[in-house]
Amino acid sequence: MNLYEAIRLRYSCRKFTDKPIEKEKLDRILEAARLAPSAKNLQDWRFIVVTDERLRNKTAAAANNQTFIARAAAIIVGCSVSDYVMRCGQPVSGIDLAIAMEHIALAATAESLATCWIGSFDPGRIRSLLGIPENVSVVELMPVGYPAGGGSHSKRNAIGTFVCYERWRF
Ligand SMILES: Cc1cc2nc3c(=O)[nH]c(=O)nc-3n(C[C@H](O)[C@H](O)[C@H](O)COP(=O)(O)O)c2cc1C
Repeated sequence: MNLYEAIRLRYSCRKFTDKPIEKEKLDRILEAARLAPSAKNLQDWRFIVVTDERLRNKTAAAANNQTFIARAAAIIVGCSVSDYVMRCGQPVSGIDLAIAMEHIALAATAESLATCWIGSFDPGRIRSLLGIPENVSVVELMPVGYPAGGGSHSKRNAIGTFVCYERWRF
């Protein structure tokens, strides 16, 4: 599958089968995260791959009871160990994690797996559940697993509504 196909096929999956993810596939997906760019090449991401069923259930409970998350064979918990703020005023943690986690999402799609970005969760509960230190940001959760079908692609705005050239013309 080429990159554009993976971008087109990726969608937020909210229905997973219980089929486990092959180790080689998971390794390739995590390698895609490893190759992501990061500010100053800090590589500040840390990923906890949660496969234990009890922990998956508790993670889903801490994610606003989005129970579908626990059905995925793995939940990748994306954390950042950097509090560096760039000169432009943006903290790198969310940006670096977002890039690496989208690499994960696209690589998973190329492996016939599915994912969903999860931002609705209680970081304090995730932290105490998984033993994550206080100084580490818990940025995003991402269930990864085989899709059970039934998902659909969301609509997007037309390019002209969010792109302009040379000057701000919105
Ligand atoms: C930062 C971020 C946080 C999100 N959090 C959630 C979430 O907590 N629960 C959920 O079901 N979907 C979540 N989503 C998925 C979005 O709803 C979804 O990406 C959007 O509706 C577009 O649909 P698509 O991913 O299928 O193209 C999140 C997406 C992003 C990028």
